[in-house]
Amino acid sequence: MAKITKLDDIVSLCKRRGFIFQSSEIYGGLASCYDYGPLGVELKNNVKKAWWKAVVQMRDDVVGLDCSILMHPMVWKSSGHADKFADLIAECKKCNTRTRVDHLQTVVDDKEIKRTQELLESLSGQQPQPVSVNMPELLDKLLDVGQPQEHTEHIDIDAAMAKAQDLSNKVCPNCGTVGQFTEPMPFKLMFETRMGANVDDSMTIQLRPETAQGIFANFRNVLDTTRVKIPFGIAQIGKSFRNEVTTKAFIFRTREFEQAELEFFCEPGTDEQWFSHWKQARFNWYIELGMRKENLHFREHDADELAHYAKSCVDVEYRFPFGSGDWQELEGIANRTDYDLRQHQRGIRTLNKWYENNRELTNIELAREAEDYNKGPLSYFDDEKKQRYIPYVIEPSAGIDRSALAFLVDAYDEEEVRGETRNLLRFHPALAPVKAAVFPLVKKDGMPEIAKNIYNDLKKYFNCFYDEKGAIGRRYRRQDEAGTPFCLTVDGQTKEDTTVTVRDRDSMDQVRISTDQLLNHLREKLDM
Ligand code: GAP
Repeated sequence: MAKITKLDDIVSLCKRRGFIFQSSEIYGGLASCYDYGPLGVELKNNVKKAWWKAVVQMRDDVVGLDCSILMHPMVWKSSGHADKFADLIAECKKCNTRTRVDHLQTVVDDKEIKRTQELLESLSGQQPQPVSVNMPELLDKLLDVGQPQEHTEHIDIDAAMAKAQDLSNKVCPNCGTVGQFTEPMPFKLMFETRMGANVDDSMTIQLRPETAQGIFANFRNVLDTTRVKIPFGIAQIGKSFRNEVTTKAFIFRTREFEQAELEFFCEPGTDEQWFSHWKQARFNWYIELGMRKENLHFREHDADELAHYAKSCVDVEYRFPFGSGDWQELEGIANRTDYDLRQHQRGIRTLNKWYENNRELTNIELAREAEDYNKGPLSYFDDEKKQRYIPYVIEPSAGIDRSALAFLVDAYDEEEVRGETRNLLRFHPALAPVKAAVFPLVKKDGMPEIAKNIYNDLKKYFNCFYDEKGAIGRRYRRQDEAGTPFCLTVDGQTKEDTTVTVRDRDSMDQVRISTDQLLNHLREKLDM
């Protein structure tokens, strides 16, 4: 149970210190939507910067892109999302709650049901009746571990339908009723809206459920306007939207979230080598940003859980402190083969049909693939080999919000210092929202003026914070909780020898540094 407390601690720290708030809180909140406060937005921006630096800036074979969220409806027909991006759900006949079938938990056997019943009776003093409770936490304790977890990602709808089993021993997570479900049915995950003011030309469009398709749709543009040559990648960070059935667990799974995706285009036959390359590169990224190795591992997808487009897929999983299973997906690395570009070639050939169908997707089939699809509009011509082909794609796809949560969890620490609990976030300097806080020891004797000057100089180079209110110990603690790596204090000695104390967040050690050396000292320590 200690681990659950830890997520609660993080949620409360995030709210208390302005990292993350519930969306629309003044109106009672909007489920599964969150807002990033002053410290949170810095953390999230730093996660994005670190990803961009590693995936785009430091590489000569990757370029960036920023596509619109709203795209042509045919994009989703071609990608398969319009028909297949759905979760298999079942509705509880008692309370009408819909749950993903793969997230339903099983009561192991009759004995277990009886035990549940007896326990509930003893707690509520009620007479025996069909198992029905309003205590999901209690059921959590009774249910078998190692069952499908509520935090698992989407599984391919065809695979889910094929696997759909008897629900007679499944428990409703809302009301606890056992085995009272409707037939499993697909639930579409894309949000829809209408675009256009005129009745004649308005149409239904979707909010993108992944950023990847914007990259495929721009593959030709990037080829034609840059000097990229295969192998090369196109990277993008941006918002995605999914009408998730199960949310919970804070910002782990939300309906609006940010993704950081790379589509790396390579010659067929070299795909497995690039898959290994990106698998390792992405794992190392988390480690280099300070995530503890024991909290990260790979999970290879079994053949029957692979998405319809993937030849192979591996997840980087993090040991999150919630749920009955700890390991949850942080990022997926997939070998998408030539599926997407080939599908978009079919989509381009279907465009007329879509116009004829009043620009609606319902009832239209994608055109058959051309026999010479290898020479189609989204093919690549290899100048050296004088060969044309559709490239294969390796896709590392990470969640920014989910990574930010994992970095928060991993950095969170509590320790006893002189009989008091010190809460701190041991962020890697690149991720820390504030890099240095500057304090005058007291609000007199010219100390605030000197401290303000130091602060004004340093903030040109990185995010700094100035604070002159309250006891110095309290100010240190506040910065520990915000994850600020260094606190600089101007004291009585500063006037004599122009040195200030620099306190290290993790060790709490203090050294005196001359003010003219401060910038260099901090840059070296922060690796900036
Ligand atoms: N283009 C492939 C793709 O979108 P995915 O596994 O569905 O693959 C990739 O998503 C990553 O995006 C996940 O590993 C996760 O980090 C993040 N993600 C997906 N759905 C999310 C949600 N509802 N809330 C927060 N993050 C999500």
